[in-house]
Amino acid sequence: MPPSTARPGAPPAPRAAIILAAGQGTRMKSSTPKVLHWVGGRAMLDWAIDAATALGCARIVVVVGAHSPAVGEHARARGVETAVQEPALGTAHAVIAAKEALADFEGDVIVTYADTPLVQGATLEKLFAVRAAGASLAVLGFEAADPFGYGRLVCDEGGALLRIVEEKDATDAERAITLCNSGVLVADRTMLFQLLSMVRNDNAKGEFYLTDVVGLARSSGFRAAVDVADEAEMMGVNSRVELAQAEAAFQARRRHAAMVSGVTMTDPASVYFSHDTVIGNDVTIEPGVFFGPGVTVESGATVKAWSHLEGAHVGTGAAIGPFVRLRPGAHLGARVKIGNFVEVKNATFGEGAQASHLTYVGDAEVGARANLGCGTITCNYDGFDKWKTVIGEDAFIGSDTALVAPVRVGARAFTASGSVITKDVPDDALAVARGRQRDIADWSRSFRERKLAERAARGGKRREVE
Ligand code: UD1
Ligand code: CA
Repeated sequence: MPPSTARPGAPPAPRAAIILAAGQGTRMKSSTPKVLHWVGGRAMLDWAIDAATALGCARIVVVVGAHSPAVGEHARARGVETAVQEPALGTAHAVIAAKEALADFEGDVIVTYADTPLVQGATLEKLFAVRAAGASLAVLGFEAADPFGYGRLVCDEGGALLRIVEEKDATDAERAITLCNSGVLVADRTMLFQLLSMVRNDNAKGEFYLTDVVGLARSSGFRAAVDVADEAEMMGVNSRVELAQAEAAFQARRRHAAMVSGVTMTDPASVYFSHDTVIGNDVTIEPGVFFGPGVTVESGATVKAWSHLEGAHVGTGAAIGPFVRLRPGAHLGARVKIGNFVEVKNATFGEGAQASHLTYVGDAEVGARANLGCGTITCNYDGFDKWKTVIGEDAFIGSDTALVAPVRVGARAFTASGSVITKDVPDDALAVARGRQRDIADWSRSFRERKLAERAARGGKRREVE
């Protein structure tokens, strides 16, 4: 075998990752493969791929099962390699499925699970440090409050890792061990696959256990070491209950980070973030706000209660809400004001523009300082195609204006309330596009007199409707 321990002072070894994602995920009771369920606004598999990418892994191989091709498609769309494990004969067998893909790779391999979305980059980085410090094999462990079901890390008095024993194969004394296997390990690629070729399935589950490589490494004269991580990070998701627990843990972490970075939240527990939410300092977030993927809020902005944002940008000092919906492509410039029951989709608002109440703005460009009155609607869809509305700077859109796209309202132009605008409005003009008001003198008085007389003739009763 080649030297599997780095020489002191040698440059860091190249890194590769094998992400195990071939399990059935039966307990999710879902037609969606387990690892494609979301935590923090993206698939659990994406957390694993991003963690491997952040570690600087030159190669990433996701091991997928033949039963869920969607997992492979998702991984390849992310630009990583896949290997198929069929049938699933255990975790060692799953890692071996990636052997061919990494045949030309020299360096350290990290094995991770795609259903462990909470593990932090720094924790994995530390495991590489343990490996670089002289261990041939570095295993990530954790102290479990309830170790039931986990593999136990059996160490000698000096703390050196001897072997891993699975729950079902453990003696009573071994079951009393609380130091558990997370499943994550780092080893030299060549050594790892040589040890894997020696793994047998003569155990309680009749599976090829990845964990057996630890004992095999020891008996081949290699040193295995443990790094202990926080149990909260090692949580694996097997059911919808655990999925919700992972989500809650992600949200708690993210809320804390937002406040530490200078965001005010009146009721943090009611605010929901996504993995990529970016919030500037001195932003105030009121209760009940949901940030879907792809949202940026610049410093000094206020997001008032019960607002839902997704794929949107909120500029410096802007104020949105309460009850605002920003859909993908909503881009609000500095000091924009968007008020209650306003929906914005694929539309830009220039600096200082406003839409204060009951408005839909879709596929539009709104110029700086333009004011959209209550009930403004962009009619952007004709049932087949989407069309664009352009509103010039300083324009004033009267209440209850329907803008039938494609249409352009010029700079500083007005539209009269209740107008249905179907043609472009020149700069500085007033567009009136509604029925002209006509007053019929005394119509109401004669109508009421006639009706009251009819009622009196019926003996004061209302007319019965048949
Ligand atoms: C495994 C570990 C155990 C550890 C625990 C941590 C082994 C033998 N045991 O147990 O020591 O404490 O994880 O959660 O490794 N997978 C495949 N192909 C297979 C089998 C599994 O890809 O043939 C994948 C699964 O999708 C999952 C991961 O490997 O992502 C772990 O498999 P699982 O069956 O859940 O292992 P555990 O019994 O929990
Ligand atoms: Ca498991």
